[in-house]
Amino acid sequence: MLFTKKPYVGLLLCSLLAIFQTISGEVGKMVCFYDTPRLAPNSPAPITLAELEPALNFCNFLVYGYAGIDPENFKIISFDLPSGNHINDLRKKFPHVRFLLSVGGDRDINGEGVPDTGKYLSLLEQPEHRSNFRASVISELNKFGFDGIDLAWQFPKNKPKLQQGILKRAWGKFRGWFSSTSVDEKAAEHKEQFAALMGELRTDIHRAGKMLSLTMLPHVSAELFIDIPVALMYADFVNLATYDFQTPERDPKVADLPAPLQAMYERDPSHNVQYQVQYWLNATAERDFNKLHIGVTSYGRSWVMTRNSGITGYPPIPEADGPAPAGSAAGILSWPEICELLQQQPTDRETPHLRKVGDPTKRYGVYAYRAADDKGENGLWVGYEDPTTAANKAAFARAHGLGGVAFHDLTMDDVRGQCAGEKYPILRSIKYKL
Ligand SMILES: *[C@@H]1O[C@H](CO)[C@@H](O)[C@H](O)[C@H]1NC(C)=O
Repeated sequence: MLFTKKPYVGLLLCSLLAIFQTISGEVGKMVCFYDTPRLAPNSPAPITLAELEPALNFCNFLVYGYAGIDPENFKIISFDLPSGNHINDLRKKFPHVRFLLSVGGDRDINGEGVPDTGKYLSLLEQPEHRSNFRASVISELNKFGFDGIDLAWQFPKNKPKLQQGILKRAWGKFRGWFSSTSVDEKAAEHKEQFAALMGELRTDIHRAGKMLSLTMLPHVSAELFIDIPVALMYADFVNLATYDFQTPERDPKVADLPAPLQAMYERDPSHNVQYQVQYWLNATAERDFNKLHIGVTSYGRSWVMTRNSGITGYPPIPEADGPAPAGSAAGILSWPEICELLQQQPTDRETPHLRKVGDPTKRYGVYAYRAADDKGENGLWVGYEDPTTAANKAAFARAHGLGGVAFHDLTMDDVRGQCAGEKYPILRSIKYKL
């Protein structure tokens, strides 16, 4: 009756309902990246499939990393995928999860052990290379039972900026912070070709009833390589690279907070979550905000502190000495590794131990440090994400109407609950805030 007598009310109710459904359907998404090499029994810290399963209660997407590209024929090649029918088995237990395969992700390395970017550009340049790739994607997805493909495309990265200091400030004023065009002279063409690839893939992928997502990698300029409105039209969602702004590989001499939420004084103004999100929002139609996800890590970035790095630990730390060897990989500490270091109580007051420095402003992130001793040894500085800071970022995503969070990576969270007795504490704290 209501609907026939008062059509406007009916219409209003319908559209409110539609809006509500879109919102509840599209936000609060948890995209869980999953580094499959860590499943291998010979990896430094192996994880079993059974240990992975509790995480899936909190994930909407499980993204397997990573597949690469064959340089001869430009077909996709998957490495390190668990064998057998396990995706279909997982799907039966966790019917709400969609399973995607990610290609690139800086894991597709060349003979020198560095991420191969040339191959990713050559693929774009020839329509027949693109069509080889597309055909191989569909057959690879079908072969393993994936629901979609994620393009973590290995575009050339911006060069690290000059070191901190007077020189940098002067240079910053004269040249601007943003002059980064030299990474690829054909960037404009590659941008167009990548948009074309996404359009072509979208057609194939949707015909096959599957999904297409885009994952930005840290220090890849969207301005140079991504046609944002087109990418958002074709992708089901986009994961932004809002982490690893400062890393011991790129900035071996200066330790600093790797993923501040907001701009920090005298830092590159683009090196924070808020800037990256705003950059994309500026080029995005309002209805597409919920296609954007921010990246949050479960690991920290660690440097060696030298005697010249001072004793306060207050970032930026000068005269650092590259990636700290502590942990299962140089320059990276997983959350359980950091937690363990923080819990180690010194046996006496003289023994240096890691001190945590929190962030009451909730803007920049937490760090922990141990100044170098008199011999110049044992110095360590780590900037990281803990359950509290990760929750702050989830709240930020929610407040801006974004789609959710892309979590890098399940295997670096506290898989076994050895820190505080709870498994996947960072993943949980993000999910509860979304
Ligand atoms: C977004 O647009 C506003 C208004 O045009 C501008 O002031 C701001 O600098 C832009 N932000 C980014 C990150 O591009």
